[in-house]
Amino acid sequence: MAAVPQVAEAVIPFLDVCSQAPVAAPAKRSILDSFRLDGKIAVVTGGARGLGFSMAEGLCGAGLSGIAILDLQTDLGDSACEQLSSEFGVKAHFYRLDVRDEVAVQDAMDSVVREFGKIDILVCSAGVADLVHAEDYSPAKFRRVIDINLNGSFVCAQAAGKHMIAGANGGSIIFIGSMSGSIVNWPQPQSAYNASKAGVIHLMKSLSAEWAQHRIRCNSISPGYMDTPLNTAYESALFGEWKSRTPMGRLGQPQELAGAALWLASDAGSFCTGSDIRIDGGYTTL
Ligand SMILES: NC(=O)c1ccc[n+]([C@@H]2O[C@H](COP(=O)([O-])OP(=O)(O)OC[C@H]3O[C@@H](n4cnc5c(N)ncnc54)[C@H](O)[C@@H]3O)[C@@H](O)[C@H]2O)c1
Repeated sequence: MAAVPQVAEAVIPFLDVCSQAPVAAPAKRSILDSFRLDGKIAVVTGGARGLGFSMAEGLCGAGLSGIAILDLQTDLGDSACEQLSSEFGVKAHFYRLDVRDEVAVQDAMDSVVREFGKIDILVCSAGVADLVHAEDYSPAKFRRVIDINLNGSFVCAQAAGKHMIAGANGGSIIFIGSMSGSIVNWPQPQSAYNASKAGVIHLMKSLSAEWAQHRIRCNSISPGYMDTPLNTAYESALFGEWKSRTPMGRLGQPQELAGAALWLASDAGSFCTGSDIRIDGGYTTL
């Protein structure tokens, strides 16, 4: 008789888990209370500025107890933490690292758990973009974008996910995709960025299926064009074009993602996993 392929050993326990009792629903609370994050601990990558910082502010404003910002930029990261502490009275720590460095990321997540006791929420906002015509894209430059945006998101989710699984308290992981993960932005050439964001959205869906059994919800927010330092360099050349292609006629402000991030992070979003929420001023309706 032919040997049973080894893969079955990995798959059968997973299928067993899928047929187990459903994950319990949270106790009923008032609708506004269900958005509160009292006692929760969050990690935000790329939170030194831009969308990551705005989402960090939104979470802190809902009662978060502690926050860790993971970013490459020390000055901005330190001042982001000082601002969060002074505005919201939250304990905030900055970790300087590159999300591509899996050892540094795991060390930082371990240190967050030692310092704060646990990780409840992870927001993966660290990301880069560049505009290069495909025929001129050097493989090294192309790989860099995929490495930071896609592989970096996986590295961070895996490192935080291990602690969420070990803590057995569930969690919420919010990936930052982009409308570019579903459509091709125009007129600028950004094949690596678009491909990386399509990957982020599908990574999110894959992890949402695998980790539902651990009560870890995985979702993504996919912004349209937002007014952040990521885009400042393109202001004179592209902002007019982007606005004219957006039904709302403007770029989004960073704080306009915070409500969705809070919903996904909190019990208000307790049955939401595997979803991608587009916030793009209507861009992708056309
Ligand atoms: N701004 C937009 O229009 C827009 C639209 C859709 C999606 N996004 C996505 O939102 C996320 C945040 O973008 P933003 O506009 O706030 O950009 P931003 O440049 O203002 O902020 C990004 C942050 O990530 C950090 N970072 C970059 N590479 C890193 C690395 N390797 N390791 C650790 N930290 C790193 C930067 O230091 C910076 O603080 C990105 O993933 C981006 O792709 C932005």
